[in-house]
Amino acid sequence: MEKILIDGGKPLVGEIETSGMKNAALPIIFGCVLVKGRCVIENLPEIDDVEVSFQILEDMGATIERIDRTTYAIDCTKVRGGSSSVQLVRKLRASYYLLGAEIGRYGKAYVGSPGGCDFGCRPIDQHIKGFEALGCTVRMDGNYVEAVAHKGLQGTNIFFDLVSVGATLNVMLAAVCAPGVTVIENAAREPHIVDLANFLNTCGGHISGAGTDTIKIKGVTELHGCTYAIIPDMIEAGTYMIAAAATGGHLKVTNVIPKHLESITSKLCEMGVTVTEGDDFVEVAMEGKKLTRTNVKTLPYPGFPTDMQPQMAVLMCLAEGISNMHESVFDNRFRYTEELARMGALIKVSGKMARIEGVKSLRPARVRAVDLRAGAAMVIAGLATEGTTEIDNIQLIERGYDDLVGKLTKCGADIRKEQVG
Ligand code: UD1
Repeated sequence: MEKILIDGGKPLVGEIETSGMKNAALPIIFGCVLVKGRCVIENLPEIDDVEVSFQILEDMGATIERIDRTTYAIDCTKVRGGSSSVQLVRKLRASYYLLGAEIGRYGKAYVGSPGGCDFGCRPIDQHIKGFEALGCTVRMDGNYVEAVAHKGLQGTNIFFDLVSVGATLNVMLAAVCAPGVTVIENAAREPHIVDLANFLNTCGGHISGAGTDTIKIKGVTELHGCTYAIIPDMIEAGTYMIAAAATGGHLKVTNVIPKHLESITSKLCEMGVTVTEGDDFVEVAMEGKKLTRTNVKTLPYPGFPTDMQPQMAVLMCLAEGISNMHESVFDNRFRYTEELARMGALIKVSGKMARIEGVKSLRPARVRAVDLRAGAAMVIAGLATEGTTEIDNIQLIERGYDDLVGKLTKCGADIRKEQVG
């Protein structure tokens, strides 16, 4: 077990290169199960969730070859459906993409129930609704989900009751090789939905409309191997943008698609941060300026991402006046506020709302990462606070941030990892 130690209070200055997007990489890695052939995937982030996904696939018979730090060749030709390890699957939320991928390839799936960050109840009823509409009978007990299309899959119309990233991706995986036409309505519009569609289309799929709320899938008989590069991680980029603002720094965040960051950029500008956009970078400048209060409501894309909520809350703690954070996507995503309170943050949570009263500065403390993005928020708080902040439970942060300590160190942060105890 390791912890992170930060001697904060130093502005972040320099350049950070964004890695590939975790939440695009995972469905694409599991999407390789649909392909008989070799897929070369580029711009993969070096994070624990990718490593666990590889372990799950290798365990099922896939061949995975490392080409360089961010490029891997994945060949699932010999994968055995229904053979994933329940222990490994429980380590990830994204392992539920195996359901869609196995259904798409074999017309049936048998996968352990997914794990992932604890934001309260995280049902998968919309995924199941989609699989059932495609012709599957789905059974769930506490440990496993089983789906079988006894009469084969058949394209159909699916209207989701709510906007779900996971359900949209999963049904795309299940339907890409289903005979006929599938139309998903009330689909999520996140950039990673477009990325999965582009990957599947590069493999010979026929998907249109990804990025809008209606996605049309013409089933193809099979998919072939390809070479595909994952898009940059907007949540990683946004995390560093907020870290720059919180430390009064000046940071160029490169390898981004600025359009994906618009909801974050516009909030930062509203709070008094200067953000300049280039073709594939954003530059955040905060030297000598004061942060002003704001209100944020998390929403599906293109709204403000729930995965940036804890990081933004730290910035609100450092802004003058009272800010309000409304979490509208998940039921229980404020557990980290108790950790920030140890650092002197003044946050009152009531249901899905947090009222955040700005303080002049936070104070160093020993805190823990309660989930992945909450852990990133603790890092930002530590970077912005004079004295030594200790963060425990950092394996949750390492699930999703590629070389966090190395990237921050290059920009002047005094941050290191140490063994606990
Ligand atoms: C994904 C991301 C997560 C991000 C979230 C929202 C991955 C591995 N995880 O999670 O980082 O925070 O999108 O951008 O990519 N819901 C249902 N029934 C369902 C599915 C979802 O009620 O069948 C609810 C959820 O409980 C939640 C909301 O819908 O309240 C949105 O969830 P969803 O978009 O599905 O998030 P995930 O795919 O789990």
